[in-house]
Amino acid sequence: MSSTTVPRDLPPTITWERDRIVLVDQTRLPELHRVEVTTVDGLVDAIRRLVVRGAPALGVAGAYGVALAARSAANGGGDLAGDAERIASARPTAVNLRRGVERALAAPDPLAAAHAVRDEDVAACRAIGARGAALLGELCGERPLRLHTHCNAGALACVEWGTALGVVRSLHASGRVELVVADETRPLLQGSRITTVELQALGVPHRVVVDGAAASVIARGLVDAVVVGADRIAANGDVANKIGTYPLALAAARAGIPFVVAAPETTVDAATPDGAAIEIEERDAAEVVAGADAWNPAFDVTPADLVTAIVTDTRTWRP
Ligand code: MRU
Repeated sequence: MSSTTVPRDLPPTITWERDRIVLVDQTRLPELHRVEVTTVDGLVDAIRRLVVRGAPALGVAGAYGVALAARSAANGGGDLAGDAERIASARPTAVNLRRGVERALAAPDPLAAAHAVRDEDVAACRAIGARGAALLGELCGERPLRLHTHCNAGALACVEWGTALGVVRSLHASGRVELVVADETRPLLQGSRITTVELQALGVPHRVVVDGAAASVIARGLVDAVVVGADRIAANGDVANKIGTYPLALAAARAGIPFVVAAPETTVDAATPDGAAIEIEERDAAEVVAGADAWNPAFDVTPADLVTAIVTDTRTWRP
């Protein structure tokens, strides 16, 4: 749809325009391309390819997908329940996706429900940012902090503001960020391609490290705390997030620094008792290596006992 270098003010990750879903294409960042999605097939493909990604953004996309499906069913095409299930199961780990789909499907007006999921996400991210900034002040002191993050849990993983990067933004607004260390995040580079775009736009000092360097960066005392997002939080506080999160939690525990998870309440899944019950998405080996077999789990589970606190829009939970 459009192609430019990324401006300082990023457009919203997802919008609904002229009966279409418009997405910032996250596979092409740091170049900015926006794509229009007009069909359920198109949305399922966009979700699988990570054109739209990040748990909260997937929830919003799922809800808008049901709005598309409902319009098509009203015009005599498609099977609404079947289409909704195809969207909900396009990726299995982030609970927000199925939640967004189910909410829109149960609503008398799926489009109005999708707008509500979007608006609630924006409000939740603001609340998480403020609560997380206050918590880090308590845990680390009011000085400017060096924060380590993984993957992209920013505006581009939500609608705007972000969860883990929402905490960074809130701290930055009061001059309390010295540095963000962003893991590259193999294999699809959400850290070096997407988080850096956001931090650059915000003017937050940052440095990328390869994933294999993260534990030693923490061990060398180069960061004060780790802040990450989540795809699903089990009832006992186990946290599924992008593959490579668990090693950060181990390193943080060993170094005695806080490991904070920032996520909306919609990512907490009371129906999942613990991390062992979370389905971990397996992706194509070709994302990792060409011409050889590979094992490519997209997420890992950090056990609750390694989590200092989970900051949501309504509470600070120490599991
Ligand atoms: O595979 P992705 O890019 O969808 O994984 C995203 C993450 O792991 C994020 O950390 C998580 O969804 C939280 S986003 C606010």
